[in-house]
Amino acid sequence: MKIIWQLFGVHISFVAIIVTLLLAWLVWPRKYPQTRKRLLRSSGIILLGSILLGLNTYWPREYDKNYLDQDLPAEIETTSLKDLADARDFYIGVALTPNPAHHSLIAKEFNSVTAENHLKPGRLLVDAANWKFDFSKADELLTFAEANGMRMRGHTLIWGKFPGMTFPKQWIEQINGASDKKQTMEALIKRYIETVMGHFKGRIPAWDVVNEPMAGKGLYPSIFSNSMGEEYIDFSFHVAREVDPDCSLFLNEQIQDYDGPQGTAFLALLKRLVERGVPIDGVGLQSHHINRIHDTDALERYIRSIGQLGLKVEITELDVRLRLFGNEKDPYQAQGDQFKKIVEVCLNDPACSGVTLWGLTDRNNWMDSVPPFKWKSPNAPNMFDEDMNRKPAYLGIWNALNEATSN
Ligand code: XIL
Repeated sequence: MKIIWQLFGVHISFVAIIVTLLLAWLVWPRKYPQTRKRLLRSSGIILLGSILLGLNTYWPREYDKNYLDQDLPAEIETTSLKDLADARDFYIGVALTPNPAHHSLIAKEFNSVTAENHLKPGRLLVDAANWKFDFSKADELLTFAEANGMRMRGHTLIWGKFPGMTFPKQWIEQINGASDKKQTMEALIKRYIETVMGHFKGRIPAWDVVNEPMAGKGLYPSIFSNSMGEEYIDFSFHVAREVDPDCSLFLNEQIQDYDGPQGTAFLALLKRLVERGVPIDGVGLQSHHINRIHDTDALERYIRSIGQLGLKVEITELDVRLRLFGNEKDPYQAQGDQFKKIVEVCLNDPACSGVTLWGLTDRNNWMDSVPPFKWKSPNAPNMFDEDMNRKPAYLGIWNALNEATSN
């Protein structure tokens, strides 16, 4: 069954056309046999096309790992990414999942970490009806970060996309049953931010206060925006500022196309927030490369525009799906070049203070669990491969930092 879905998955419109043609064939009067034959033939051709396209999309690929035969500069053994970034006063970070096998490498290579999942509402708020929190895992990660001189970014307070993970389902019932939805939502947001930020106050210097507010050009229709409109963003930032006035407050978003309608709409949103005096300090550009290779010139212009609004920028969730470079001669090298360019763009703009990689090794990467990408292997979006070899992505980042440090 799964294979059927894989074949048809994204080609749902083909299925619709085939079904329509077959239905037409079924009901078409029998006195027109030629037309009926044509309907049947067309649906057969489209079915075949769809299967071929599906096979091409989902057939696993393998690319040569030329990097395994290349010599690496000797200095990378003695000078880590963290050493280079420290010298530039720049953050180089990674999404942290509890895996003791990687902890010493993380402590060596990074000066910043983001809990991949353990600071999300779905993990912290274990019993939403009774406002019971479990901070133990997040505390552990933070203690590890502090013990190794790494900053921890807080990710994330308010996020409305996947009920359960990003906010408890009970909140939906509570909001639906409330006579004043706005007031009830404000109370929930306030209590949540006060509890969570309050718990980590003084130890987490930067928080993503709101994550992924957009859907295309508009606001994502979450319980937050449905009950408060855009104001839920303002409100969350005001509460956050009150709870921890020394913390840098970020709005974090995945921009698909910096020059496109979503990118433009997000800039306009930032402008409105600044004009309304919302206490926002910075913008997190997630930079997941899932569907497309981001245009780094457009990214450069985008960061400049955000800087002109008086806001800081960080690249907060960088990863690059290998298969996007499937047509290149050396896909691993092309992937590495893209990592390098993104880091360079950030290093070149004084508003941009750091880059966080969303994952360490290709062995555990979140894209392998997200449909339909989990069926389009290899995703391999990180800088160490499954065997912990440094990929060209590592060297690309290392070179970008090294060049910036020696300039
Ligand atoms: C992802 C994690 O990496 C996965 O482990 C989890 O199952 C789903 O969330 N944008 C974000 C991140 O802001 O929090 C998401 O992290 C990736 C997309």
